[in-house]
Amino acid sequence: MCGIVAYVGHQEAYPIILKGLKRLEYRGYDSSGVALLDGDLNLYKKQGKVAELESFLDGQSLKASIGIGHTRWATHGEPSDRNAHPHLSASGRLAMIHNGIIENYAALKKDLSSRGYVFKSDTDTEVLLNFIDDILINNDCSLEEAVRIALKRVVGAYVIVLLDKENPDTLIAARKGSPLVIGIGENEHFLASDASPIVEYTRQVVYINDYELAIIKGDELILKNLGNEVITPFVQQLDLELAAIEKGGYDHFMLKEIHEQPQTIFDCLRGRLDMAKGEIVMAGVQQHIDQLMHANRIIIIACGTSWHAGLVAEYIIEELCRIPVEVEYASEFRYRNPIVNKGDVIFAISQSGETADTLVAIEKAKEQGALIFGVLNVVGSSIARISHAGAYTHAGPEIGVASTKAFTAQLVVLTMIALKIAKEKKSIPQERFIHLMAELNEVPGNVERILSDTSKIHKIALKHAAASSFLFLGRGYNFPVALEGALKLKEISYIHAEGYPAAEMKHGPIALVDDLLPVLFVATKDAYHEKVVSNMQEINARKGRLIAVVTEGDNTVEALTTDLIPVPETDELIAPILNVIPLQLLSYYIGVARGLDVDRPRNLAKSVTVE
Ligand code: AGP
Ligand code: GLU
Repeated sequence: MCGIVAYVGHQEAYPIILKGLKRLEYRGYDSSGVALLDGDLNLYKKQGKVAELESFLDGQSLKASIGIGHTRWATHGEPSDRNAHPHLSASGRLAMIHNGIIENYAALKKDLSSRGYVFKSDTDTEVLLNFIDDILINNDCSLEEAVRIALKRVVGAYVIVLLDKENPDTLIAARKGSPLVIGIGENEHFLASDASPIVEYTRQVVYINDYELAIIKGDELILKNLGNEVITPFVQQLDLELAAIEKGGYDHFMLKEIHEQPQTIFDCLRGRLDMAKGEIVMAGVQQHIDQLMHANRIIIIACGTSWHAGLVAEYIIEELCRIPVEVEYASEFRYRNPIVNKGDVIFAISQSGETADTLVAIEKAKEQGALIFGVLNVVGSSIARISHAGAYTHAGPEIGVASTKAFTAQLVVLTMIALKIAKEKKSIPQERFIHLMAELNEVPGNVERILSDTSKIHKIALKHAAASSFLFLGRGYNFPVALEGALKLKEISYIHAEGYPAAEMKHGPIALVDDLLPVLFVATKDAYHEKVVSNMQEINARKGRLIAVVTEGDNTVEALTTDLIPVPETDELIAPILNVIPLQLLSYYIGVARGLDVDRPRNLAKSVTVE
């Protein structure tokens, strides 16, 4: 969720905010805007790049020493001028920017609408703003108190910064689940999502914590918790350089995004996995549940890593929902004369939502009357706009060309969709449904455990970094994971790699095996485990260089190789989400060892909008 910048002090606010928004562009966004307070509260916002906002403002008088700015990554309401931030409250007194998701916005909006509020945008942000405005008007309290009252009733993630016409020298900010840094200057303060817009002005910063609220003037910073208790700000010396800040201290965006996965998976589950009620809450699925549960066939259309997510989904949906699934390369589907029947449902999986082959393929399917369900990461993307319904992965902008956090978010969403359909169809026992929900709920923590010590994976990567070819093998749910591991290695290290069903080796590929060939097995405990071990013995007998991803504590194959990568135990149906993490890291470390640009591999584009 994207970027905020705010300023209060003795300088002109606009130039500082504009430059700050440009510093945050690397985070990915779809629109931007600023609000400046100089007697009047003036808002300017535009869909598209910050440069478009800048040229839109060229020549306008933008005098103000206090202001807020925002780069938006849409979650509620497609990218557009009117949905861009900042938003103005109904009373015209407040302007606000927000990063995050207000999960209970619908209930708040319903209540406000019933009392006459009219909304100018489709965003959850405007709902929160008018909720605060409403409290302010009806409780005759300070803005600070109104914000505290409102945030105690909000469910979701936020950083918010407000301008108040009636207090033109004060910013109010609060956070829960999204980042906020405050730079301490000489009679001036700088706020931002990370330190990159701040570092050139000051290195004295305060990182705001969840449930904290800041009241900021040029020469004063007051920090409080939602219980209205004053907190002493902990001022730190910023020692990161700009380039490092943009990557969150990681060497590359790819590594940053691999390590973001506990949070992005948590964000993907947020508001959907209701453990207390034992329910999966997904409005887009619910609206079409009849068509989904009675589908004669589900056709999954995608490319690349998204296609691998589709393959995992095939195993999951067929296992849980007993609905036949076909997974199609979009580029093949679109040029055939495909058979799409009325009772078919199309799942379009795409991180960017702009992949040309996928877009055209589903347009073709839509013409033949199929329901199009999008599993996408970009709100308002082209594929989102032609889909009848969908579920967003909420993985946030993925900057590295190699898809990592978007892939695991796709698997989480697809698993929740399958579970929701299975529950409606009663095609699995309630105990299995609850068990799988619990296993999903454990995923962020399990991914965190894998990422907490990557030294073994790094060591194995360095041992095999000079290989000229690699094999990745798996069975069942782990077969698509093997394919994904091979693709990651190919696109990041330029080493030729193939993924295969482990049992297929004897039908030809085993001729490749010699003492130079690294063969990685995804061999976690599941129904196929015994067979996979036999396949490993076949490779071992031919001197293949075995590597294995195994379940923690499983020493079955210790005699065959010491290159073992343990992952936490989980249900085989959930295992792909965990098992892919070591493969992402392996390709990253090998790519770095080979001195390659892992964020921008040769010949590749982040979004393949050409055919
Ligand atoms: C994944 O690492 C690749 N960059 C590529 O295969 C990608 O998954 C494919 O181009 C599909 O992109 P999409 O998910 O944005 O449609
Ligand atoms: N949920 C808000 C919106 O969709 C904020 C998104 C963001 O973090 O940029 O406008």
